[in-house]
Amino acid sequence: MKSPIRVVISGAAGQIAYNAIFRLLSGDVFGLDQPIHLVMLEVEPALKFLSGVDMEITDCAFPCLAGRTSTCDQLVAFKDADYVILFGAIPRGPGMERKDLLEKNKSIFEAQGKAMQEVAKPETRVLVVGNPANTNALILKKYATKLLPGHITAMSRLDHNRCIGQLAQKFNVTPGQIRNVFILGNHSGTMVPVLCHAELDHKKIIDQIDKEWMKENMQIVRQRGTKVIEARGKSSAASAAEAALDHMHDWYMGTPEGEIVSCSLAAPKDNKYGVPEGIVFSFPCISKNGEWVIQPLDVCEVLKEEIEKTIKDLLDEKKLAFNE
Ligand code: NAD
Ligand code: LMR
Repeated sequence: MKSPIRVVISGAAGQIAYNAIFRLLSGDVFGLDQPIHLVMLEVEPALKFLSGVDMEITDCAFPCLAGRTSTCDQLVAFKDADYVILFGAIPRGPGMERKDLLEKNKSIFEAQGKAMQEVAKPETRVLVVGNPANTNALILKKYATKLLPGHITAMSRLDHNRCIGQLAQKFNVTPGQIRNVFILGNHSGTMVPVLCHAELDHKKIIDQIDKEWMKENMQIVRQRGTKVIEARGKSSAASAAEAALDHMHDWYMGTPEGEIVSCSLAAPKDNKYGVPEGIVFSFPCISKNGEWVIQPLDVCEVLKEEIEKTIKDLLDEKKLAFNE
């Protein structure tokens, strides 16, 4: 049996966490042979609800549960953490943009970055889900400077999965037959779904997708979060949990040979996509030996203008976040 890993979930009493924790502990993400010490972080008033989640965890008798901690102390939560998923943040409601959450949520990521700087390990691997996820990850990165480059990520896997879901419906196939779509940019209304490398049963399908459908798909993927809020009255939870676990699974296990997924990372210098340093941007990536590796892929010329817009969107959010 391997030694236990410490996996931290913030916002552990919230709706996404409730959809993530049980699958995480079932062995689906890190494997059945990997014991997990689960650390659940919440704000103090939510600890009572969290105690209910804790009871349910016991009642599942998960074979790989090595231990668990419930806490409202970030210094306790992040100490020696191996993997951290940051759900804990205010969600948007109808009529809001994700960046409207920045004022309320930025202090959470500033405080968590400072706590990680104090007690986390440089190797700690973090996924930011709380919105606006890309800019919250940037805030965290500003304070948690000890974390290794590439170990602070933001979630674009939900948008990635949404795009696969749309293509699977269009071609009337299972989502498992589609791969190698990717998302460029921000998790916002400016994100750019890229289909030029999409494959159905390992064969490229771009020639079978007309421009009109591509435009419609872009709008559907960009607006999906809003549409779910309009329909459910609450933001997406099950699909967000699934995407977060897909991200952690691939980070830990590696992506299958030849498969590209979307992951938001700090833009490196001189990247293929012309993204300036200093923002957290969604790129096509593979995961190998526990690291995300950005793939330099060609992107259709028609998307260049859209890529400029999503870069600007992130630069504007950065200004708002840091009062620049
Ligand atoms: P929720 O309100 O159900 O749960 C959030 C939880 O976080 C609450 O229990 C709250 O008490 C807790 N929390 C607040 N501040 C905290 C802090 N400082 N430390 C620890 N916990 C804290 O919300 P939800 O539906 O689970 O969504 C959580 C976040 O995820 C929102 O910001 C939402 O917009 C975002 N989200 C992102 C994506 C994405 O693709 N990036 C997808 C869906 C939702
Ligand atoms: C989503 O894309 O579903 C989430 O970011 C929630 C939201 O506010 O749209």
